[in-house]
Amino acid sequence: MTGQLEGKTVIVTGAARGLGKEYALRMAQEGAAVVAGDIRDCAETVDAVTAAGGRAVGVTLDVTDMDSCRAMADAAFSSFGGIDVLVNNAALYGGLKGGRFDAIDPDEWNQVLNVNVTGVWNCSKAVIGAMRSAKQGSIINISSLAAMYGLPFSLHYAMSKAAVIGITRSLARELGRDWIRVNSIAPSAVMTEGTDEFFGDKLDRAKEVIADNQSLKRNLEVGDLAGTVIYLASDASKFVTGQTLMVDGGSVFL
Ligand SMILES: NC(=O)c1ccc[n+]([C@@H]2O[C@H](COP(=O)([O-])OP(=O)(O)OC[C@H]3O[C@@H](n4cnc5c(N)ncnc54)[C@H](O)[C@@H]3O)[C@@H](O)[C@H]2O)c1
Repeated sequence: MTGQLEGKTVIVTGAARGLGKEYALRMAQEGAAVVAGDIRDCAETVDAVTAAGGRAVGVTLDVTDMDSCRAMADAAFSSFGGIDVLVNNAALYGGLKGGRFDAIDPDEWNQVLNVNVTGVWNCSKAVIGAMRSAKQGSIINISSLAAMYGLPFSLHYAMSKAAVIGITRSLARELGRDWIRVNSIAPSAVMTEGTDEFFGDKLDRAKEVIADNQSLKRNLEVGDLAGTVIYLASDASKFVTGQTLMVDGGSVFL
């Protein structure tokens, strides 16, 4: 542990697997107390954090349900006494059917909007009271390269991740007066279960094309992202807000 997040309580949504699980573990290794929320069971994440000597609690969370989001914030308070950081990571991604833009299932479109966009709004509302009264906080929204580069056959997903950037910029302007920072991270495709599901039998070809379009010619790995999350959660970024950091091997330059 190097202690960059010592004394902080962080909430990570979508922390049962993939990137959220990795963020939870790495932030705990930096000294944070972690609340891992997911619609799936977070026991494995909590066990991994505990085995590494960290502190974590798991909560069942549905980001589309405001009561569930409030219960997650209450759990952070009752377990660790406050909320310093929220990582809005939960999203519908891997299991999406997608398709041509004019053939996307309207139910799937609405689910993506509900989870990936309204979910970010709901979780942010749930933590804002704690952050306002502490006069500090960091909200980190997970966007995607898809928002900046465009992604064919997944219009709903790309739209939702572009909305996350809009939320980030507007909230940063609104919450600066309370010393709450809001930033987002836009990764390219990372090799997670979600990415396996998303690309299916086109995964190998997609990996090749993505790496080829980058300045750094290899695919992004799970461990590549945690440093940026820790930076945005920590006081090292205390004058950074409203930004979207591309972690994409140099694909899009902002
Ligand atoms: N993996 C990538 O290539 C990649 C690239 C760019 C951005 N992202 C983003 O990073 C994040 C994590 O990606 P991942 O690859 O780990 O995906 P993933 O599918 O493994 O993880 C998403 C998590 O969100 C949870 N979730 C879904 N609906 C929920 C709900 N209603 N309430 C609470 N939790 C819910 C899922 O159970 C899952 O554990 C997502 O926001 C994704 O859009 C991923």
